[in-house]
Amino acid sequence: MYNSDTSIHSDFLCEPLAAYSSCCKQRALFEDELISTSPDDIRVIELFAGVGGFRVGLERASSLFKTIWSNQWEPSTKRQDASSIYCERFGYLGHSNVDINLVDVADIPNADLLVGGFPCQDYSVATTLKNSGGIEGKKGVLWWQIHRILSTHRTPPKYLMLENVDRLLGSPASQRGRDFAIILASLSDLGYMVEWRVINAADYGMPQRRRRTYMFAYKNDSNIARSFTNGKNWLLQDGFMAGAFKVKNSDCVPSTFIIKGSLSEISTSFNKGKSLSPFKNSGVMIEREVHTVTIEPNYSGPFVTLGDLLLPDSDVPDEFFIQDEDVPKWQYAKGRKSEKRINKITGYEYNYSEGAMAFPDSIEKPSRTIITGEGGASPSRFKHVILTESGKYRRLTPIELERLNMFPDNHTLGASNMRRAFLMGNALVTGIVERLGIELLNRLSYE
Ligand SMILES: C[S@@+](CC[C@H](N)C(=O)[O-])C[C@H]1O[C@@H](n2cnc3c(N)ncnc32)[C@H](O)[C@@H]1O
Repeated sequence: MYNSDTSIHSDFLCEPLAAYSSCCKQRALFEDELISTSPDDIRVIELFAGVGGFRVGLERASSLFKTIWSNQWEPSTKRQDASSIYCERFGYLGHSNVDINLVDVADIPNADLLVGGFPCQDYSVATTLKNSGGIEGKKGVLWWQIHRILSTHRTPPKYLMLENVDRLLGSPASQRGRDFAIILASLSDLGYMVEWRVINAADYGMPQRRRRTYMFAYKNDSNIARSFTNGKNWLLQDGFMAGAFKVKNSDCVPSTFIIKGSLSEISTSFNKGKSLSPFKNSGVMIEREVHTVTIEPNYSGPFVTLGDLLLPDSDVPDEFFIQDEDVPKWQYAKGRKSEKRINKITGYEYNYSEGAMAFPDSIEKPSRTIITGEGGASPSRFKHVILTESGKYRRLTPIELERLNMFPDNHTLGASNMRRAFLMGNALVTGIVERLGIELLNRLSYE
């Protein structure tokens, strides 16, 4: 319901980012706060918005994408850096900085497309005793918030664009593929057809080797769903993902199976006792019938390397250079190890071994995956270190991390350098979303 009382309006204005205030509190939107749209616009809701990776990608695809409502809340810190940055870059209109669990679905405006990168968690469900036949996901599992919105909204969006880690297809280790089967089955039961693809951004010329599962879902009565041909053709050339990210022609025949049973039956028995997930790196599900095949990317355009987007040394603050005396610590952190270690709590001695990481990182290839721990001066095997032309080692700056995710320079300006690296570790390569957005526009022109 839209609140018509405007007396508290000024309480919710975004404060400058430097003040680090949580800018956009929970409440229904006022009429004058709705982002105006025209009939051709594609109205977007962005969940788990972080610093707005989906929004950056979609807005680059076309100005027809209008994000009219977004939600971002960081549970682990009091400071809400991501939300503050989001408001600073895109304005406070339609932004909510509150735990998604507390959002009233009635306050979410009607939209055409829902987007979001949600965490990989345990999606198992139980049947509730109170509500025989009802299901209950584990508390705090954010997939069920997406599900709650789709299942209770007065007009659920026709299209969904979701992102998750690649291991989603095989989790949990004790019952490979169960979590993804629950997601697919629950979307099918809500009337959506779903495509997915594991995409490594670097395979399509983007500057980071970041492999993520992208899902694109559409209502069964949409033109996209109605033009479904057959599993193989859809996955290799006709489908949404195949249009956005070309694949090599392949003789492989997709495996086909039906996800049977209620969500709680899937939760207890899907693929039980098998060592491999049945979900390959691409697939489509229609009315619970899954077609899935391993595809290879087909890309012949230019490739961007880490070296292509580095700042000149003269623009890099001193704190990012590694002092000569610290270089051995980095070499040790990155090096191959096989040594005895002692558990500090139990005193138990154990053998520890790990392989070597490249040191320094190659600047002639796309970067490795940025993780949330990329920031800070302490040596770590996962942080990137490059050797500059002047022969000095250094870490990557926030601007360079933003470029690796294809964000505008200084998108995260205002937060500490450590936090900016964290936010980029959480974000996505916006070039992927841009291509998905362009594909959606192409398909909608036939709707
Ligand atoms: C994988 S990140 C998504 C990042 C985003 N796609 C971007 O481009 O920055 C997931 C986001 O969900 C947020 N989040 C976690 N729990 C949440 C909750 N209960 N309510 C709302 N947002 C939450 C996190 O703070 C994080 O920013």
